[in-house]
Amino acid sequence: MVKIVVMLFAGLSLAAQIFKESDRLPKPESAAIMTMDTVKKDSETGLITDQNLYMVKAQCTSCHSSKLILQNRFTRDGWKQKIRWMQANHNLWDLGETEKEVLDYLEKHYAPEVTAARREPLKNIKWYKLEEKR
Ligand code: HEC
Repeated sequence: MVKIVVMLFAGLSLAAQIFKESDRLPKPESAAIMTMDTVKKDSETGLITDQNLYMVKAQCTSCHSSKLILQNRFTRDGWKQKIRWMQANHNLWDLGETEKEVLDYLEKHYAPEVTAARREPLKNIKWYKLEEKR
């Protein structure tokens, strides 16, 4: 009888050990989250880092904070219209050659479409009705 209890105990602690080990291994979901976090943000402006960021910082953050960019999502054309609007009303200068780099950047990172940094939309959602308590 004692033998059985001892064996049972040994078996259980071994199982617990294996359970702990598997807990420590990175799970596929957390690996995916880690790659999503590799989108680097500029510490000064919060804008996404890429090779055209310097131009956006130079042209777009001297009058107002980068927050106005971060808060908005437009198509390339939409961004162009915003630029034209600032040129017409707020003394924004002609961006010349650099406009292409600025628009490339804005279109790539601040477009209305779902970006790579977002998770996939949920499927098979089970909606339920909220009962209001009065
Ligand atoms: C010469 C100054 C100036 C520069 C440079 C400038 N802006 Fe603006 N921008 C403004 C002003 C003024 C506003 C209006 C702010 C407000 O409404 O409080 C504005 C507003 C905005 C808005 C908000 C528009 C809205 O509909 O509310 C966005 C987005 C924006 N700017 C993006 C940019 C981008 C992108 C650049 C770089 C190409 C840029 N700005 C460069 C002056 C500037």
